[in-house]
Amino acid sequence: MTVITDRKAFDKSATPLLATDAKRLPKLLEKLTPAQRRWVASGDFEAKPHTHCTVPGAKGEVELVIAGVRDADDPWALAHLPLKLPAGRYALGKGPVTIGEDKAAFGWALGSYQFTRYRKGRRKPADLQLAASDKVAQALGVADAVKLVRDLVNTPAEDMGPAELSDIVREQADLFGAEFDEWVGDELLAQNFPAIHAVGRAAARPPRLLELNWGNPKHPRLAIVGKGVCFDTGGLDIKGAEGMRLMKKDMGGAAHAIALARLVMQRKLPYRLQLLVPAVENSIAGNAYRPGDIVRTRKGLTVEIGNTDAEGRVILCDALAYAVEEKPKLVIDFATLTGAARVALGPELPAFFANDEKLARKLADGAEAVEDPVWRMPLWRSYRRLFESEVADFNNSGKGGFAGAIVGALFLDWFVPEATPWAHFDTFAWNDVSRPGRPAGGDAMGLRAALAALE
Ligand code: BES
Ligand code: ZN
Ligand code: ZN
Repeated sequence: MTVITDRKAFDKSATPLLATDAKRLPKLLEKLTPAQRRWVASGDFEAKPHTHCTVPGAKGEVELVIAGVRDADDPWALAHLPLKLPAGRYALGKGPVTIGEDKAAFGWALGSYQFTRYRKGRRKPADLQLAASDKVAQALGVADAVKLVRDLVNTPAEDMGPAELSDIVREQADLFGAEFDEWVGDELLAQNFPAIHAVGRAAARPPRLLELNWGNPKHPRLAIVGKGVCFDTGGLDIKGAEGMRLMKKDMGGAAHAIALARLVMQRKLPYRLQLLVPAVENSIAGNAYRPGDIVRTRKGLTVEIGNTDAEGRVILCDALAYAVEEKPKLVIDFATLTGAARVALGPELPAFFANDEKLARKLADGAEAVEDPVWRMPLWRSYRRLFESEVADFNNSGKGGFAGAIVGALFLDWFVPEATPWAHFDTFAWNDVSRPGRPAGGDAMGLRAALAALE
């Protein structure tokens, strides 16, 4: 419990925490005692964002914390503190900058995150006590969803295979009274998901399609789809060691989709929700799908496998085809689909594509409102020529390596009717470097933007 909202558990002697920006630090200092002022002046604290100064009392205890922040809107304003301040209880005091309690809760909860499945946390995070409110509860719900994404992505492939992803989706279904279905192994062939089966059949752990349905059937249908490649060796077009090293995170799209579905259910948003996760391992064995093979898809279109490492689009196309059979009002997919999206935008900015202007605007506005940045890229249909095939309806990998992220998105675009508003997120789901509240490792990127748009 790092954010405490239960009034009965409040500690009156919690250490006050005052937030300020650099400009208003002098104003804050005026309110302190001369001794406190001297202490702050003795260091080089300038109240730059994500810095802090602990001010001691007579016995050397921390009497007061001054937190440097960018401004009141920064969701990460306090995120650097829980793992830096001495363990103990803190409470927001009245400083020159008022951090909203929801933002404080969100930043604090994620600033406390440590991946503790395989070892103890580095230390016990400090606690923040905050008055309970609906907004605080919602912010903590979002933080929990982000933590879920991090835990799922950080867990190695050995412990996060298709069956484990299935358990996670089933758990979410049970939690919110949703229906859960799945097709495993050869059932995928029997039920006409041949492309998912083709990619996943070489793995020792059979491929699956996971489905969760929730909500009032009268509400507009929302389909959320996530790429669940639990490990991506590249298949026979095998990746090099460096390229394979992080591929436990290739189910990051699935993690985002599951987390978004959870938030939709938790907030009881008025949608008829369908969550779909094709969950496979892209492995190598004698029965692996091969370069040059032609895979028939659920939609009936045929795909020549130019490269077995472009597997995400192959499994997603069956899931998308299935999703649109029910005529959804809106389709959103998340996938760690291409390295090219990272080359274009770097690690912290997910690319998104949309076939609908209104939806694109809502996503961009949502991203800005909650400071969860995303960047739109074009569904430039003229580039369909880049994945033409001589022998099949199209090829799964682009020619020449140009516009890789666009080609990946355009491939998926084939499986969604033009009249169905659809957005595709090509996300990294990973922090290479640590930032306040965002340690190196798995992370949600674009999740909060999508939630804001759905709301
Ligand atoms: N999972 C990868 C994409 C990826 C790589 C995402 C590194 C994030 C970091 C995907 O399955 C893949 O390998 N894509 C290929 C496609 C190519 C063969 C057409 C790529 O991007 O190189
Ligand atoms: Zn791949
Ligand atoms: Zn992949």
